[in-house]
Amino acid sequence: MVKYNYNLMKGIKMAHIWQGIIEEYKDLFPSTITDSIITLKEGNTPLISAPSLGKTLGGMEVYIKFEGTNPTGSFKDRGMTSAISAAAGKGVKAVMCASTGNTSASAAAYAKRAGMKCGVLIPDGKIAYGKLSQAIAHGATVMAVKGNFDDCLETVFELTDEYPIELVNSVNPNRILGQRSGAFEVVDELGEAPEIHCLPVGNAGNITAYWQGYRDYKDAGISQNLPRMFGFQAAGAAPIVNGARVLNPETIATAIRIGNPASWAQAEAARDDSNGLIDSVTDAEILAAHKILSSEIGVFVEPASAAGVAGLLKLGATGLAKLGVKPGSRIVITSTGHGLKDPLWALRSEPSEDSPQVEAIKVENNKDQILEILGL
Ligand SMILES: Cc1ncc(COP(=O)(O)O)c(C=O)c1O
Repeated sequence: MVKYNYNLMKGIKMAHIWQGIIEEYKDLFPSTITDSIITLKEGNTPLISAPSLGKTLGGMEVYIKFEGTNPTGSFKDRGMTSAISAAAGKGVKAVMCASTGNTSASAAAYAKRAGMKCGVLIPDGKIAYGKLSQAIAHGATVMAVKGNFDDCLETVFELTDEYPIELVNSVNPNRILGQRSGAFEVVDELGEAPEIHCLPVGNAGNITAYWQGYRDYKDAGISQNLPRMFGFQAAGAAPIVNGARVLNPETIATAIRIGNPASWAQAEAARDDSNGLIDSVTDAEILAAHKILSSEIGVFVEPASAAGVAGLLKLGATGLAKLGVKPGSRIVITSTGHGLKDPLWALRSEPSEDSPQVEAIKVENNKDQILEILGL
């Protein structure tokens, strides 16, 4: 029986209780947001070291900023707390978004918290089950449109323009203000901006927000440096890389299955102003990175969230050296959403829904047989 010495606890101060990103970074938000805070205590997500990746990349110091621990399981909560807080301050009664899944889950939860109606347009059959369940569970009215994300967004633009409904997609500037907090947290933890920041790019709101966050922290005198922003799109949905809108985007990473990013120009500015890059990764590369994240680093993500790691592995040590990235450089990769949202890809070794699925090994309830299978 273990005995604990409870006396040792007596002098320990209460840990700081995290209040959510708006309260924590209050001086960096306008009063239109701070006056009516709607929060689920989002943010404060872990920065997890990934030494095996660092070694593969030629001796880099690599960290995963794991956004799956946010209240609805993705980075969207950072932008949704600020968008819904601003809407609450204006007395908004209804919000709407187009979504590949995570925005709808987050909008539904925060709108419910604020007592607002939430309408969601999703591309029919193209969003992961976990995300759809969340939006429905939180009481949103979810409508599946025959079309892709870009078609949904166009209709939401028109509806929110014509009726008193607040748009809560990432073109809403209040979303970007909240999502900047990911960059604030990285600098708070590392003491300085990393050399490189990598992340997946879909509608391009998040790369816009991180870049803004790093610049705002530098302007406030909290950090001295800026990172180079490396964004990665899925090869079947890579309009920024190809320099042309993709009419029928296709990828297993449904969260970034976007052919006409709303923040296209801002993403290019983040890339160019930071001396960064935006490249594409195939579904096979995404799935391989997904496996490395779960089996080597211990972080379970949805496919889109593996795009940053996939992109870095595609560049490899040689590619990074060619870009002038020195060994020992700090690289932070945002893994945007939790694996439980779209878990089935963990069971497949190829990026196809027809590929064989890994099954649990069937055994008798017999210790000898179990030990034999374990090789013990
Ligand atoms: C898990 C995940 N990763 C990445 C993205 C892409 O983010 P953005 O659209 O801001 O580029 C999304 C957007 O839906 C997402 O849900």
